[in-house]
Amino acid sequence: MNRQKTAIVLGGKTGLLGRPLARALAEAGWMVHTPGREDLDLFSDDALAAYVDACAPDMLFNTVAYTQVDKAEDEPEEARRVNTCLPKLLGRVLRSRPVRCMHVSTDFVFNGKGHTPYSVDDTPDPQSVYGRTKLDGEKALLEQMPERTVIARTAWLFGPGKKNFVHTILGLCRQRDSLNIVHDQTGSPTYTVDLADMCVALAGHETDGVYHLVNAGQASWCELAAEAAALAEVRCAIHAIPSAEYPQKARRPAYSVLDTLRYTQTTGLTPRPWTQALRDYIFKDLWTTDLLAHTEPRQ
Ligand SMILES: NC(=O)c1ccc[n+]([C@@H]2O[C@H](COP(=O)([O-])OP(=O)(O)OC[C@H]3O[C@@H](n4cnc5c(N)ncnc54)[C@H](OP(=O)(O)O)[C@@H]3O)[C@@H](O)[C@H]2O)c1
Repeated sequence: MNRQKTAIVLGGKTGLLGRPLARALAEAGWMVHTPGREDLDLFSDDALAAYVDACAPDMLFNTVAYTQVDKAEDEPEEARRVNTCLPKLLGRVLRSRPVRCMHVSTDFVFNGKGHTPYSVDDTPDPQSVYGRTKLDGEKALLEQMPERTVIARTAWLFGPGKKNFVHTILGLCRQRDSLNIVHDQTGSPTYTVDLADMCVALAGHETDGVYHLVNAGQASWCELAAEAAALAEVRCAIHAIPSAEYPQKARRPAYSVLDTLRYTQTTGLTPRPWTQALRDYIFKDLWTTDLLAHTEPRQ
């Protein structure tokens, strides 16, 4: 009989991705530990080492990140502490222990000037504090334990349990007659539940290096919003605008679609289209949670 595998999921208690990831691992038969802020000081080598030794995990999944992209421009030290120093510390603690690490990263490591999906071999060139600190976090882990690190870059997450773009848009659609949404940024919308399954599938392979894990297809923010509004049957006109009409502090990649070829080559699996995943999110997750109950409809 196979020994039960053990995982530590940092961010597994409260994160948009961490929660479905902890759940998917448990459903796949892993014993899962999800330390929250109150259980473990992540930024202490000694505390982390003691926690790792007590759990004796096969793999540590890091979904903890400073994810507020615009705020990071004003708080670069804090963004660096969470996105770069923490992975560096993880490397220091894990490299002398028989533990593999899956570290989640982002499409924002690319400059977005391309026009075809980014492969794992494309050269990063981040344009924001968030992107730079995330890229440095990737490097810190890959340098310290290259043979036991998987970097899982993902993008444009939506999913149950926490505020996200789709959730926000559908809430606004219930309150307004029309919305203006940016149409000149294109990416890979990704359902956290599918992403969690991809992480679990990849964890079953003794591999290392960079992977791109996203749903198939591409969309602009406006197209994602329009698809969500149509599926949810909310009455709201969605208008396309250029990003120049919606200034944001951090520079975003204009094009950051990710190519998942290496994931498919390793696992034999192909991610499904984001449009199918969005249906599951809206019909299975949102209909049954508080979004529509708690958002006052227009009178
Ligand atoms: N969201 C996206 O669209 C997106 C896109 C591309 C890549 N990613 C990447 O995907 C990963 C998961 O993102 P997510 O959206 O699931 O993140 P999230 O919902 O913002 O969750 C972040 C997690 O990190 C924890 N955390 C943050 N700062 C912390 C600190 N100083 N000390 C302890 N815990 C801290 C949070 O705990 P608390 O709840 O206690 O604060 C939370 O559990 C990240 O690596 C992110 O860079 C996300």
